[in-house]
Amino acid sequence: MTSVEAFPMIVIPSERGILFASAAACGVFQLASAAADATFMSKTFYITTPIYYVNARPHIGHAYTTIACDVIARRQRMLGVDTYFLTGTDEHGQKIERAAQAAGKTPQQLTDEVSAEFRALWDRMGITYDDYIRTTSERHKRGVQALFRKLRDSGYIYKGTYTGQYCVFDELYVDAIGAGAPCPECGRPTETVHEENYFFKLSEFQDKLIHLYTTQPGFIRPETRRNEVLSFVKSGLRDLSISRSTFSWGIPVPDDPKHVIYVWLDALANYITALGWSSNDTTLYDKFWPANVHMIGKEIVRFHCVYWPAFLMAAGLPLPKSIVAHGWLLFEESKMSKSRGNIVRAETILDVLGADALRYFLLREVVFGQDGSFSFDALVQRYNADLANGLGNLASRTLTMITRYFKGEVPYPSASSSLTADDLAVADAARKAVADYGAYFDQFQFSRALESAWTLVATVDKYIVENEPWTLGEKQDEESRSRLATVLYTSAEALRIVVALVHSVIPDSTARIWAQLGLGDVKTFSLSELQWGQLQLGTRLGNVEAVFPRADKSTIERMQKMEEVDRGAAAVSVAAPATPAVGEPVKPVASDGKITIDDFAKVELRVGLVKVAERVPKADKLLRLEVDLGTEVCQILAGIAESYEPEALVGRKVVIVANLAPRKLRGLESNGMIVAASPEGGKAILAGFLEDVPVGTRLK
Ligand code: MSP
Repeated sequence: MTSVEAFPMIVIPSERGILFASAAACGVFQLASAAADATFMSKTFYITTPIYYVNARPHIGHAYTTIACDVIARRQRMLGVDTYFLTGTDEHGQKIERAAQAAGKTPQQLTDEVSAEFRALWDRMGITYDDYIRTTSERHKRGVQALFRKLRDSGYIYKGTYTGQYCVFDELYVDAIGAGAPCPECGRPTETVHEENYFFKLSEFQDKLIHLYTTQPGFIRPETRRNEVLSFVKSGLRDLSISRSTFSWGIPVPDDPKHVIYVWLDALANYITALGWSSNDTTLYDKFWPANVHMIGKEIVRFHCVYWPAFLMAAGLPLPKSIVAHGWLLFEESKMSKSRGNIVRAETILDVLGADALRYFLLREVVFGQDGSFSFDALVQRYNADLANGLGNLASRTLTMITRYFKGEVPYPSASSSLTADDLAVADAARKAVADYGAYFDQFQFSRALESAWTLVATVDKYIVENEPWTLGEKQDEESRSRLATVLYTSAEALRIVVALVHSVIPDSTARIWAQLGLGDVKTFSLSELQWGQLQLGTRLGNVEAVFPRADKSTIERMQKMEEVDRGAAAVSVAAPATPAVGEPVKPVASDGKITIDDFAKVELRVGLVKVAERVPKADKLLRLEVDLGTEVCQILAGIAESYEPEALVGRKVVIVANLAPRKLRGLESNGMIVAASPEGGKAILAGFLEDVPVGTRLK
């Protein structure tokens, strides 16, 4: 094989270090100079996803972050950078404890199951994580306790009493006032916490944090998030409670096991415990810390950009280089989340279109940093336009013609003297794509990077149409053969460049096209050497076959159906366990004893807000509740004293049977019934809502 000399060899600008300006837009990443940014400037590269809560099954919102990290990690490896990619699950805290109770499982059972589900999904999607950390693992627990000790020994922890509101959904102490006050972050009702806690002296870090954000503008990205954090910190920081003592599902505070460590201190520490910080073997920590990128969704910016650097500063540890926050994936207009019941599972898309389609769609369609809507229509449209008709078509027609006209060997192009303006324009477009792609990528502008690669695809398509290789192929004269060779060489070389560039985004299909180009294993290709003209003459193509079969309209319906069936199944499995009211014996019903909808309508179920809750003297099981039903406040006696502390109920929204005939218990009148699940052998769990819902609303 000979290398190409016909095309003038122009050294392309390095993939990194290109000055680059982009339009300023809300939530879009923008840096004046990629070269000035330390994120990608180290010999090693460490990238992390958030560790996901195990109270919910994985969906494409989680997959979005994980895919973005995987794409970056793969590209770094292709550029020859020693890369470490961490993901895992966040398994402690009140939210998980309650989810386990609700599922009738122990927290350990629930976390084992759901953590395995996340991991299996990442494996199925070919996510190239290097480590999978679970916060219930011994190595993590040891590390968190070591961090707690270190903070305490450095004088940053003291004991105090916390009285205030706590949002269990966000696992966040909030400034809201009053029982049941809505969480300022998510709007859900907060719970009143009155506990003796350990506190972290967060207030001492206000100036240091402001200094950090102002001297290292790339620490928080994009700019909009940096500004939000800056104004939050400037408005003043209060010390942070970092332990809880009213539940036990967590890591015990060293030397005071009545307390468990606050779940966010526990979770954030995963980024160093996974590397073996403070363990017997700190090789990975010494090599990879500080992290280059903590990738997160925008709702957890405060934890990562305020608490985490403050903890690290207090412990005398280096800070991560950058925290990159993306926007939310929306489905049917709102954030995709389990509590809203509007999730889309990755599995459906993997089954029907494959992982590459999902990866490409999410990174191409959503402007990284901003919210983006998911729809099956848009997914299929993008897939057909860019993958099946775009890259797929370019690959199949170029390779098929080389097979047909040159017996499957990459042909010789004409001498450079006889190259046309068209040929040279394709080579220029390829050089530009390489430069632009790298520059956009280093600024996390994935959609623009992909757009620049597809500009090259469009340029080559037009070139093929205008130069009509199929017409040239019909002729046998030397000039036509030579022209045909040049056109097909040019097309194949441009195809090779696109495939190398986008390999980290769509790894499976590009690996197949690379092999069809006769280039072997794409994993061994060094991206930093990518230049126009490297395709060797005489390269023997592999077997040529279509990589992206076109998807027809039925594909959309198929995926929608699969999701509907899944949602239906989830709803049935939630509804299946009977939910008898606590303290109310449920009459046995014959297996064929179905009721009609009219029978059901006789039961008036309403949303109530607990205003008062207290124990009933000399009745171990009973609580006296005053519940606001919107139109009236009623007194209810409920047999839940063994399951709930009265304080924990005040401000909580519950489900009430509002039209039950009154009855007397211990001399007190009970007007209604509170609805709860009673798992066998377990404690009662009140029915409630994850979304905010007005008091008095009827359930039907
Ligand atoms: N356990 C914490 C993170 C601790 S990190 C030290 C947590 N877990 S989570 O399960 O709620 O995951 C949140 C993350 O999942 C988001 O920050 C984001 O990365 C990803 N996403 C979950 N739903 C998402 C969307 N609908 N859209 C985009 N990303 C989403 O918070």
